[in-house]
Amino acid sequence: MLKFIVLAAILLAGYCVQGADSVLSKRASRLPSCRSKLMDAPTDWITMEDPCTEKMREQIQTEFVASMTYLAMGAYFAQDTVNRPGFAKMFFESASEERQHAIKIIGYLLMRGKLTSDVGQLIRDPQPLGSTYSSGADALKNALILEASVTRKITEMAKVCETEFEKVNATGHFERTMNDYHLVDWLTGDFLNEQYEGQRDLAGKLSTLNKMMESHGALGEFLFDKKLLNGNSV
Ligand SMILES: [Fe+2]
Repeated sequence: MLKFIVLAAILLAGYCVQGADSVLSKRASRLPSCRSKLMDAPTDWITMEDPCTEKMREQIQTEFVASMTYLAMGAYFAQDTVNRPGFAKMFFESASEERQHAIKIIGYLLMRGKLTSDVGQLIRDPQPLGSTYSSGADALKNALILEASVTRKITEMAKVCETEFEKVNATGHFERTMNDYHLVDWLTGDFLNEQYEGQRDLAGKLSTLNKMMESHGALGEFLFDKKLLNGNSV
């Protein structure tokens, strides 16, 4: 009996996953829909304004592009012909951090009731911004440029989210929107803080690497890579 229940559950789950476009669609269409019905709940608590929400959604894509860019950097330095495991480790870790940033923003939108539609449009085929680098210093420089552009986007987003404007409300009257204090505080206190610390870290690393290469050439990059691999501060 238990086997039958498990089998039935697996088959039903299979129908849900396959969807209407599959070869099983005809049979699946005769089954009850697996999609949960959206509840008719009050929406007074949902107070994020559309321009701000749109910026947050765009930022999710930006974070995934950053993640892919660091993933490509990590893969570049990990390949046998380049073989800089310290750089590879650092960039693979950065890729994970950027992915976590995207997840944090998704979590914030969920908390504010602003992720109820077009969820599938949040991530649109993110491509890395580069795939080859002439040296470790070149990659660090590119990473710093990338982080500066992300910082600008977060700053612009905070500006949009704190800007008050007139809009027509549900009763057809004009009303003034409010500065989204909580979101702006979250962006500036959490995200921007991490951005500034990350930028300073990259700038410092680039400076140290350039000095080591000035005095020791390729050996300088080799030693710098060893320090990155061992988690030493550089
Ligand atoms: Fe990020």
